Amino acid sequence: MSPPSPWWVPVAGAADLRAATPLAARAFGEDLVLWRAGEGAAPSAFVDRCPHRGARLSRGRVADGRLECAYHGWRFEAGGQCVGIPALPGFTPPAAHRACSWQAMEAHGLVWACADASARDGGGDGTGEALLAPDPLEGLPARRVLCGPFDVATSAPRVVENFLDTAHFGFVHEGFLGSREQPDHLSVPDYRVEADSQGRPGVPLYRAWQPRASTAAQGGAWVDYSYRLLGPWSALLTKKAEGSAPSEAYALWCCPLEEEHTRVWFTICTDDTSQGDDALRAFQATIFSQDAPVLESQRPRRLPLAAPGTAGAELHCAADRLSVAYRRWLGELGARFGTC
Ligand code: FES
Ligand SMILES: [Fe+2]
Repeated sequence: MSPPSPWWVPVAGAADLRAATPLAARAFGEDLVLWRAGEGAAPSAFVDRCPHRGARLSRGRVADGRLECAYHGWRFEAGGQCVGIPALPGFTPPAAHRACSWQAMEAHGLVWACADASARDGGGDGTGEALLAPDPLEGLPARRVLCGPFDVATSAPRVVENFLDTAHFGFVHEGFLGSREQPDHLSVPDYRVEADSQGRPGVPLYRAWQPRASTAAQGGAWVDYSYRLLGPWSALLTKKAEGSAPSEAYALWCCPLEEEHTRVWFTICTDDTSQGDDALRAFQATIFSQDAPVLESQRPRRLPLAAPGTAGAELHCAADRLSVAYRRWLGELGARFGTC
């Protein structure tokens, strides 16, 4: 058994988790059940396996603020403790009668879960706190549109690396985020990778030519990007087209369902009000539908962490500096889920 992952990952849209209905989810190859004790209550996450006879707790129901197993009706409170066994009405279950509970919280319109019990108290490596609080989206354009989930048959690090990569724009997103009309438009101008105070790599300025950088864009423009890793499987880009007023930001939130299967959400932060939420979501779905077939074609599906030039390493060019920094950082963190 590997130790529990100390990182928070998104497991469901917060609006999809309604008070009365337990919701099945998955992360790190583990089935989970998400539930709320009542309307507006904080989410809870348990391993989706009743400690009595192993039935799936997501088949149960929520009654009187407790999650009730569908098989023999054992009742569990939010922390995981079993507080009632209908077959033994007078029996008080001991402390050992408990469901395996993960930490859970809500942020960015998503329910997040973490297998490490110390994470909520500021334990672990601190990555969870950096991802969720202080809010990494603070100060960005105020309108927020959550997109997804999108499921893709590859590892989360492959998805993140693709998000950090501008050199594919003219090929995968021709006519949208990139163009092949002029060789100049395919070039990746020199850029600098910098680590933040927590060692997370980012790029303060990264220019790319875009024929249609957003739903609202009317024509081509050079766009100033900046990239930040927020956690092993989450990243943030901001972009500002030359001469255009509002900047935009896109956060990528990945849940590693399995080593080679990933669920993806995006948060769009924009000041643009010319497009409805559905139009923004449709544009993002179009872009991701262009990325997904390429992502699913990559072999190995896991991201190789071998140092450049060593056995098993992929080939890199100078335009891949950020990808190389991301791979090195994952290795240093020990975030090896979905890598090889
Ligand atoms: S298996 Fe859940 S109560 Fe028996
Ligand atoms: Fe892409």
